[in-house]
Amino acid sequence: MRQIDKVCVKIPAVSPPARLKRRLNLKERLIRGLILIAFFLPGVSGDQAFSAEEPGKKFYFELPLGLEQDYMQIPEDNPLTPEKAELGKLLYFDPRLSKDGTVSCATCHHPAKGFTDQAPVSTGVGGQKGTRSAPAVINAAFMFSQFWDGRARTLEDQAKGPIENPIEMGNTHEGAVNSVKAVKGYAPYFQAAFGSEEVTMDRIAKAIASFERTVLSGNSAWDRHTQLKDASALSESAKRGLSLFEGKARCTQCHVGFTLSDSLFHNLGVGMAAKEPDSGRFKVTGQDKDRGAFKTPGLRDLIKTAPYMHDGSVATLEEVIELYVRGGEANPWLDPKMRPLDLDTQEKRDLLEFLKSLEGDWQPMEPPTLPE
Ligand code: HEC
Ligand code: HEC
Repeated sequence: MRQIDKVCVKIPAVSPPARLKRRLNLKERLIRGLILIAFFLPGVSGDQAFSAEEPGKKFYFELPLGLEQDYMQIPEDNPLTPEKAELGKLLYFDPRLSKDGTVSCATCHHPAKGFTDQAPVSTGVGGQKGTRSAPAVINAAFMFSQFWDGRARTLEDQAKGPIENPIEMGNTHEGAVNSVKAVKGYAPYFQAAFGSEEVTMDRIAKAIASFERTVLSGNSAWDRHTQLKDASALSESAKRGLSLFEGKARCTQCHVGFTLSDSLFHNLGVGMAAKEPDSGRFKVTGQDKDRGAFKTPGLRDLIKTAPYMHDGSVATLEEVIELYVRGGEANPWLDPKMRPLDLDTQEKRDLLEFLKSLEGDWQPMEPPTLPE
């Protein structure tokens, strides 16, 4: 366990691939070690994470095996502290942030459902359905952008979105702030997290983002295989699947590193046959090449997060593999990296076994008791 004083990593304006490839040298690591402070966190479960350690002093934080602290995306103006994460957890589970008091972040990103809603598309206030599938909010701390189309840069920006999205939580920022203000029990939490009882949208977003950064999944069989060289971690089939994943099946063209994502956007052809296909990343960049392109998702905990893809249109991992074997769905914007694969039945099975080895060792946290 490392111990640092303050957790605060500047988000640089560099393109994701450059940053992903660049490894810090030893000197940089040492300097950063001095600037950063440490913490303790037992994986995604989070419940024991902040227990009685001197509040506000040292934050002990142990990343699960396989995750790298240097890549955590923590804005300079929102250092991660246990008090903020604790407040954020309450807000994350609190339906009073929504227009009619029925929908919380956890409604669509529930720990017991792998931080998704396990539905093709999500249902918000008044039973309204959206068009995209709720991604798993797991290891989001390491992603360079948020949403399927990457339209939010940070988790802070992201958190403000659903609160005022008419078909998600349907509220206004003012409405959400007023609901939180009306709950007297929140005052001490804001005091502890931010030094005063004032409730603002900015503080709500900062707290929720801090909580989300503690939702971590690692120590999977794959991590034990690669990090600890534990020869018994993967079955023989999963080992063959790993070779395929990195080799003939070409998955690491996009699903790279410990996040299993290049944080970039690709068109696999999913949903392109619809009457009005979701234009995806195009909405953000306006560039024709980005039509139908979506962010490469991380592949941890897939067993808990079905169905798959941005529109939830692929029900099983077997079908996902068949999609890649076909080379994606033909359309004018298909990513050039997509090619038909020559995999026999055993190889498909092996690849599936490997995907299953990416399950983290966390237990879903219990929803907290909300303040009155
Ligand atoms: C009604 C369901 C619903 C609710 C409520 C909801 N979300 Fe989401 N969330 C979604 C969907 C659907 C997406 C994908 C939308 C998109 O990409 O355009 C998403 C995307 C996200 C992402 C991006 C993840 C990624 O991998 O890009 C994060 C983080 C997130 N939500 C957190 C939250 C937080 C925090 C709240 C509460 C303030 C919240 N969500 C409330 C459905 C919901
Ligand atoms: C060209 C880049 C690229 C390659 C190559 C690639 N993927 Fe993907 N993968 C993506 C993108 C982008 C998505 C999301 C697409 C969408 O929703 O439209 C995705 C989605 C997935 C999903 C669904 C995850 C979820 O949470 O919904 C799985 C599983 C997956 N890929 C596994 C694989 C496997 C296995 C391989 C190798 C056979 C592979 N991918 C190759 C880019 C890629």
